[in-house]
Amino acid sequence: YSTTPMLKIAKANKHGIVAFNVHSFDSIFWVLEAAAELKSPVILQTTVGTIQSLGAKNIVEVAQAAAQHYQVPTGLHLDHCTDFEIIKDAIRAGYTSVMIDASMHPFAENVARTQRVVELATSLGVNVEAELGKVGGVEDDIIVDEADAEKADPEECRQFVAATGVPTLAPAIGTAHGIYKGKPEIDFERIAEIAKMVDVPLVLHGGSAVPEEDVRRCVALGMAKVNVSTELKNIYSEAIREHFAHDPDSLDPRAYLQKAKEAAKEMVKTKIRIVGSENTV
Ligand code: 13P
Ligand code: ZN
Ligand code: NA
Repeated sequence: YSTTPMLKIAKANKHGIVAFNVHSFDSIFWVLEAAAELKSPVILQTTVGTIQSLGAKNIVEVAQAAAQHYQVPTGLHLDHCTDFEIIKDAIRAGYTSVMIDASMHPFAENVARTQRVVELATSLGVNVEAELGKVGGVEDDIIVDEADAEKADPEECRQFVAATGVPTLAPAIGTAHGIYKGKPEIDFERIAEIAKMVDVPLVLHGGSAVPEEDVRRCVALGMAKVNVSTELKNIYSEAIREHFAHDPDSLDPRAYLQKAKEAAKEMVKTKIRIVGSENTV
């Protein structure tokens, strides 16, 4: 139950780890059951909105119990957090990694805010992720217009990692949160340049709707953590909707949640196979 070692191993062995956004307690079990069946490490991540909905301590306790039950290396990560106090609370509750997202601020301010979190987290063995550039699209409360999306500059990445000591970096490279209207224009050359400049595992945000071969290329170039949110929640929500379309009077949560579980597990397995972490534990 930790994030740092699995990212290090993934980077060294050039496979990826999928970080799935979970939005309910049930989905924690679905993700870990699927990961266990494939003998793959996995990261569970929640946004601040999900902490507000379920409670940080509850999420930690359920994640720990499920990781113990399924015997699968599990990280619990706080996704896209802009608030230092919430980060502190999540670490205190038992999250194993946190993202400080100060990418909306100018470079120097992003450095200062990230430094503060690195100082707090590192002494506690908690991994930190920060973002450079701006990932477009919608992720809970964080909304970035496509027009304002901005790719990360490789030289700035070097300076940023050197200045903050951040152990994991999420550079914007052309993906967006959510499902794209067209195909994402991923800047593979930029990823390669950034990977030359910094020695830390990189993170691919906006993993939903990225074609399989593009995800593989990103992983091969050093993107060790691949975030998937929208596709997972959509597929199991659709399974529930379909259940009610066929059986509008259904009142048995076990019946419709079973459909959700089957759909979620299949999606989780597909993504794990793409990043190549199957059979690595
Ligand atoms: P998607 O919703 O596109 O999968 O993005 C996930 C993400 O980056 C979470 O931080
Ligand atoms: Zn993201
Ligand atoms: Na996406």
